[in-house]
Amino acid sequence: MTLTVVGAGYVGLVTAAVFSELGNKVFCVDVDKSKIESLKKGKMPFFEPSLPEYIQRNVTAKRLFFTATYAKAIPQSQAVFICVGTPPKNDGEADLSYLFAAVEETAKNLSGYTLITIKSTVPIGFENELENTVKKYAKNNFEFAASPEFLREGTAIEDTLHPDRIVIGTTSKRAQKVLLELHAPIPGERIICDTRSAQLIKYASNALLATKVSFANAIAAICEKIGADVQKVMEGVGADKRIGRSFLYPGVGYGGSCLPKDVLAFIAIGKHFNYDFDLLRTVDAINFGQIENFVNKIKIALGARSSEGRSLKDKTLGVLGLAFKPNTDDMREAPSVKIINRLLDLGAEVKAYDPQAMASAKKLLPNVKYAKDLKGAIKMADAMVVITEWREFSEMDLKTVKKLLKKPIIIDGRNIIDKEKALSLGFKYYGVGR
Ligand SMILES: NC(=O)c1ccc[n+]([C@@H]2O[C@H](COP(=O)([O-])OP(=O)(O)OC[C@H]3O[C@@H](n4cnc5c(N)ncnc54)[C@H](O)[C@@H]3O)[C@@H](O)[C@H]2O)c1
Repeated sequence: MTLTVVGAGYVGLVTAAVFSELGNKVFCVDVDKSKIESLKKGKMPFFEPSLPEYIQRNVTAKRLFFTATYAKAIPQSQAVFICVGTPPKNDGEADLSYLFAAVEETAKNLSGYTLITIKSTVPIGFENELENTVKKYAKNNFEFAASPEFLREGTAIEDTLHPDRIVIGTTSKRAQKVLLELHAPIPGERIICDTRSAQLIKYASNALLATKVSFANAIAAICEKIGADVQKVMEGVGADKRIGRSFLYPGVGYGGSCLPKDVLAFIAIGKHFNYDFDLLRTVDAINFGQIENFVNKIKIALGARSSEGRSLKDKTLGVLGLAFKPNTDDMREAPSVKIINRLLDLGAEVKAYDPQAMASAKKLLPNVKYAKDLKGAIKMADAMVVITEWREFSEMDLKTVKKLLKKPIIIDGRNIIDKEKALSLGFKYYGVGR
């Protein structure tokens, strides 16, 4: 089949790479001309394991094409996947301007029956508006479907090739057939439903994942008060198959381009349909509170008096991890940004290292000193602060760490350091809920 993927971001590029790998002819369209030019030269706009190899292989095989011109792609395509961003507006609602612009440009170039599938995360209730947008321009036969995306950055290719489920949100048999055929080589449960249910599956899934993280953080707070170990508590809770272990990890809170914005958008959707989503408001509030909780831990660890405005003046902190999670360079809503800005406000000097995200971090955090490696970040620092759970941080040799630090203090925002070992080596160790 010939397809167009609109949007060459995380979702769009991975979708284009995988569908071309499966033997389809795929055009990937983006309005960002410089991004398209770089992609044509084989340069990736972000770090994602395996993606460059998939792209290169399919470009060479002439199955994957990049263009900034809709007219070169849409008229030849039987199916179009819209993968543009839906970032939050100030009030938490999703900004749909990119979505409508993409649908409008698609509409202007339709030729013959085309299925337009929305993969972007889009709030409920815009079906009519989207249809009307297309009808303004297209005399041709078209249908809409929703097939929300569940990939995780860092394992995006693997997640797309081996998903838990594929949601096919359309009641049209013809549209279902197109999507089922396209996904035929990919395993995973098929959930076939109406468009609104499909969109709700996406929001409800992300809301539940965020709830698990905030729940773990609430339990961690109780553990700290009563002297229990949240790691053990969550191990015990997660061993129950009805609950599961994933996402029950306390820390500095969830971040990234999806959970924070989708929680806020879901609260706004609830409001729109007259439902007060107070459960999710609490999830969001707990997440927000994790930043200040962690900064307070750092202050306590360094003996700073909380009443003093610049209580971390003269302190140097070696910060490990900037990306919102490991195996990505994505800094969108990364907790590191808020934490580091607070530390800088309190007068600290911050030396940071991240295996992939330093280039993107420099734009957001210009007043940080960036080290070329882990050792450079912690050398002569008053404490080591772990924010992202990259494997190289959990595997570091604590004896070497101790030699490099000015003082043997670890503040571990992800509970990845072996606490017993750290204590036995004479470190002061501060985790989350342990
Ligand atoms: N990133 C993730 O992990 C992830 C996972 C699941 C779902 N999603 C959802 O998928 C959607 C896309 O997210 P993303 O992270 O890939 O976004 P992104 O910001 O990485 O990429 C969006 C791309 O769309 C392009 N674009 C904007 N307007 C356009 C237009 N009119 N025509 C063509 N291209 C246009 C931008 O230039 C950009 O390259 C969002 O709704 C997001 O919530 C993201």
